[in-house]
Amino acid sequence: MKFKKKILCIGAGYVGGPSMAMIAYKCPDYRITVVDINPDRIDAWNSSELPIYEPGLEQIVKKTRGKNLFFDKDIENQIKENDIIFVSVHTPTKTYGTGADMTADLQYWEKTARQILKYSRSSKIVIEKSTLPVKTALAMEKILSSAKSKFNFEVLSNPEFMAEGTAISDLENPDRVLIGSHETKNGLKARAELIKLYSRWVPKENIITSNIWSSELSKLVANAFLAQRVSSINSISALCEKTDADVSEVAKAVGMDKRIGDKFLKAGIGFGGSCFKKDILNLVYLCRFYDLKEVASYWENVVRINEYQQERFVSNILHSMFGTLAGKKICILGFAFKADTGDTRESPAIYISQKLLMEHAELIISDPKALKNAAVDLSGIKGKVKYIEDPYQAAAGCHALVILTDWDTYRKLDFHKIYKSMVKPAFIFDGRNIIDHKKCFSIGFNVYPVGKPALSHFKV
Ligand SMILES: NC(=O)c1ccc[n+]([C@@H]2O[C@H](COP(=O)([O-])OP(=O)(O)OC[C@H]3O[C@@H](n4cnc5c(N)ncnc54)[C@H](O)[C@@H]3O)[C@@H](O)[C@H]2O)c1
Repeated sequence: MKFKKKILCIGAGYVGGPSMAMIAYKCPDYRITVVDINPDRIDAWNSSELPIYEPGLEQIVKKTRGKNLFFDKDIENQIKENDIIFVSVHTPTKTYGTGADMTADLQYWEKTARQILKYSRSSKIVIEKSTLPVKTALAMEKILSSAKSKFNFEVLSNPEFMAEGTAISDLENPDRVLIGSHETKNGLKARAELIKLYSRWVPKENIITSNIWSSELSKLVANAFLAQRVSSINSISALCEKTDADVSEVAKAVGMDKRIGDKFLKAGIGFGGSCFKKDILNLVYLCRFYDLKEVASYWENVVRINEYQQERFVSNILHSMFGTLAGKKICILGFAFKADTGDTRESPAIYISQKLLMEHAELIISDPKALKNAAVDLSGIKGKVKYIEDPYQAAAGCHALVILTDWDTYRKLDFHKIYKSMVKPAFIFDGRNIIDHKKCFSIGFNVYPVGKPALSHFKV
């Protein structure tokens, strides 16, 4: 079949895979190829067991793969073949040298720019899909123009706003698609090309354009605002625990104000995932770079409150269980950083598990999708850990249940059955406030939610 357009995506991860699958699904007359330096990832995308779990992803990959969606290892040839190139390589926090633990590590990004320059045999539109510090497009442009190539490389910013766990519905019905470009003739032409692509399924009013720097910065700011709401309600949860207020009731009353809104106001053990912390730290680093100390420390506190919330949660477990966890069996329900994903990057479960192991607790970790990643995250950590997918088997013989991920299936557990199989007194620490606390208390559990009065059978 002759395709109308040929599109390449470099980076077959949580963003590259699903976002390109959606483009392929919505544009059957376009050929979409996704490449990656990790050949195992490409093999997995071509197999029956995809490398990532996302509701609805498998169905659209099955519909498109081999027809107009291809996963390929030959990066060199694919750069030659395609004129529109999305770049969705990872941009983790730098762990070494200047800016360590703060700024983005742009080595993967820069390597991609050099590969595009080296293998291109025609002009290209290069689209930043990765989340990058503002002004990164400038570095990309400098590299792409460094060899005085006769080709034109037009760099656009098109940050991805999808969230893991809801990636497919977010990609299909995005709140907005943001396209940043230079306002030059070539920049506007490239922008029009991308608008045409998204117009296939996104309403025109949801496709917004801006200058390239606003676009880069908007993505960092959007994540910072989302994380800030989580830290705001979590900071209030600490006060609720001291004053017998209930954080869910407070959040409801506050969120009904239309100016505030009710989304992202659920108290819990804090945010995780590969993006929020990294993107805020990036923002903080940028502010410091531009000598905006007050702005930097304002945003840095969002991360600090997130850490504080996890520290508080662990110390609550320790104190409620009589000050010692040594030799006690604790069942961790959920290791993924949120429901409906197997991703554990920056999951609060990592920190909390490590701290519980340091107290010499024995952990039995259960999760429907994230056990493989959990085992990698905790490898090398001293202590007794078992991984059991079935929550009933995992809980049997334990002293406490610790809920760390808001998987829907945990709401529906038979807590009578679980209670019977546990050591008494039995405890539940609901780090996501997702189960029926009163019901579990009436079964016999001592129940410790976040930001609500504890329900304990102890008289003193
Ligand atoms: N995960 C999310 O929910 C999400 C959402 C929006 C934006 N983002 C941003 O998107 C970017 C990618 O995130 P991700 O979660 O998909 O990361 P990821 O680690 O899942 O995927 C990145 C992929 O890029 C590949 N790669 C690295 N360098 C390469 C190169 N030179 N050539 C070819 N492939 C290369 C890696 O092997 C990896 O498979 C990040 O900047 C992230 O901040 C992520």
